[in-house]
Amino acid sequence: MSENNIQSVLHENRLFPPSEEFKATATLSADKLAELYAHADRDHEDFWATQARTEIDWQTPFTTTLDSSNAPFYRWFPDGKLNVSYNCLDRQLEKNADKKAIIFEGDAGDVEEITYRELHSRVCIFANALKAQNISKGDRVIIYMPMIAEAVIAMQACARIGAIHSVVFGGFSASSLKDRIEDTQAKMVITADGGHRGGRIIELKSTTDSALEIGCNSIENVIVFKRTGHDVAMKPDRDVWWHNAILNQSAECEPEWMNATDPLFLLYTSGSTGKPKGIQHSTGGYLLNAITTMRWVFDIQDSDVFWCTADVGWITGHTYVAYGPLATGATIVIFEGVPTYPDAGRFWDMCQRHAVTIFYTAPTAIRALIKQGDEIPNNYDLSKLRLLGTVGEPINPEAWMWYHTVIGKEKCPIVDTWWQTETGAHMLAPVPGVTVTKPGSCTKALPGIDAAIVDQEGNEITTANEGGYLVIRKPWPSMIQTVWGDDNRYKEAYWPYFDGKYYLAGDSARRDEDGLFWIMGRIDDVLNVSGHRLGTMEIESALVSNPLVAEAAIVGKPHDIKGESVFAFVVLKGDRPKGGIDDELTQTLRTWVGNEIGAIAKPDEIRYADNLPKTRSGKIMRRLLRTIAKGEEITSDTSTLENESILPQLQGKV
Ligand code: WT7
Repeated sequence: MSENNIQSVLHENRLFPPSEEFKATATLSADKLAELYAHADRDHEDFWATQARTEIDWQTPFTTTLDSSNAPFYRWFPDGKLNVSYNCLDRQLEKNADKKAIIFEGDAGDVEEITYRELHSRVCIFANALKAQNISKGDRVIIYMPMIAEAVIAMQACARIGAIHSVVFGGFSASSLKDRIEDTQAKMVITADGGHRGGRIIELKSTTDSALEIGCNSIENVIVFKRTGHDVAMKPDRDVWWHNAILNQSAECEPEWMNATDPLFLLYTSGSTGKPKGIQHSTGGYLLNAITTMRWVFDIQDSDVFWCTADVGWITGHTYVAYGPLATGATIVIFEGVPTYPDAGRFWDMCQRHAVTIFYTAPTAIRALIKQGDEIPNNYDLSKLRLLGTVGEPINPEAWMWYHTVIGKEKCPIVDTWWQTETGAHMLAPVPGVTVTKPGSCTKALPGIDAAIVDQEGNEITTANEGGYLVIRKPWPSMIQTVWGDDNRYKEAYWPYFDGKYYLAGDSARRDEDGLFWIMGRIDDVLNVSGHRLGTMEIESALVSNPLVAEAAIVGKPHDIKGESVFAFVVLKGDRPKGGIDDELTQTLRTWVGNEIGAIAKPDEIRYADNLPKTRSGKIMRRLLRTIAKGEEITSDTSTLENESILPQLQGKV
């Protein structure tokens, strides 16, 4: 995404209205959507209260819609009681018991179909197994699993008994796992012997063991699902196989009735400090927006087969795999493997075989598959697809057009959905039967979401195409509740300006002449690599923890497929390698970062210098480093640099 692409984005004016065919069956017509907007404008709280009464089965109905007395700690539906697992499973049994809930496909092509009746009983059995292992309401449980049906079963089982789960992505290292366990003070880890990805085994149990060896005193038990069958060590008194834990457990488990504001889960994400934040989500408000967005943005209908390719380790895999689709009685596809194994046709082959109608993935996956050529998708019958979606990063118009023509055959609307771990659900996104889309724009705020672009003082920017801060001006049900154990950090990270009145998303954005939103990038030190958020500070502290490294600075470098790649400038304690390059050391440091955080955080390139470019006050000049990483000429004023003579070193010239 060079300057050229930014230019072409700026001048993008191709318009894509929904087809008559799509409109004919769409849940929301233009009139209905207009009514929703009007209702929300008229009375924000009444609008959400109405949605909450319609969409959720409450055990005890709420009488208060929103408690703002302790803002920005907003509490939605505070006196209502419900259970998320009940709303996802029990209430489907009347009409949908024999409907497929999950179509699971393993890396090797093994397929298992699970009906709602069966899923309900498997979740109840596992929930009872958790109770038998001494887990109860409010306890934290870490889920460190491959992308298999049991990951969703584990999440639903926690939700059923009111335990707070925190899913850790299977690609994270022992050290990252340990940090999350310790921050949550979890009592249990649910893991597997391993998972299959691209024909290889991902170790999960042995990584869990390493994490537990270096700390994690709060952990009492580990439940291990047997997935690969390869040899793993089991520690008596601590570890129990899943298949043993569920022996003789009943298939009935009365749901724990939770307050709407009780935490449903914690999910860690990177910010601008070295330490990831545990984003805390609620039970009632979170579920509500998971459901409303399934209807408004995904137009979910009874006959749909819905496939969101995200792992449950990310928010997308929570809202649009584990919760939203099940709460709307949908059939979902869950896939253990990778898009390129056994070949680059895997996604399309699966869309054909499972008759997928709605497909939701990340721009990085689309860009990677474009490289493989059109013949591959053209070999498959993609005619069942009716709606496509993207998430995680801006999609470049070229990739959008390919998705639209080669995958969607020009008949599927594309929903480009902007949201965040913190927002819980889609915020800016098209409504597919109504919104006229433009390639690269996430279009408009959904009903009940008051998004705006403001300047430093909080004044709304109304000039077309002028960039500013993206903010949300009114609370919404699925909003972050706090940062686990750190209320101050929550306030400082998300409500620092504008008298604490607006939620600061951390993105810059603009609106075009038609009022459509375009995300321009992060305003903080956060990278977006393949749609995943990485904090520069986090990678820097991982590097500096290596005994050879004195100082490090991380910047993002534009990358064709990943969007951004990780570029590191490193100052060693010892001598600088000749020419600023040392392949062997670079390998060592890459492995080091992989062990400290996880493979996704490994720097793609490392350049060694005697010093980092700093202002006289000691601040690292990241903008300059970004220019250098791109290999561009330095045009900015460098005279404020403390040590101008290191520039050629940073540029790799000497
Ligand atoms: C950040 C949130 C939301 C689930 C996946 C990522 C970027 C997300 C889009 C989009 C442009 C996007 C933003 C945002 N982002 N979706 N459609 N267009 N940018 O969740 O890890 O919490 O990251 O991802 O920068 O702030 P996350």
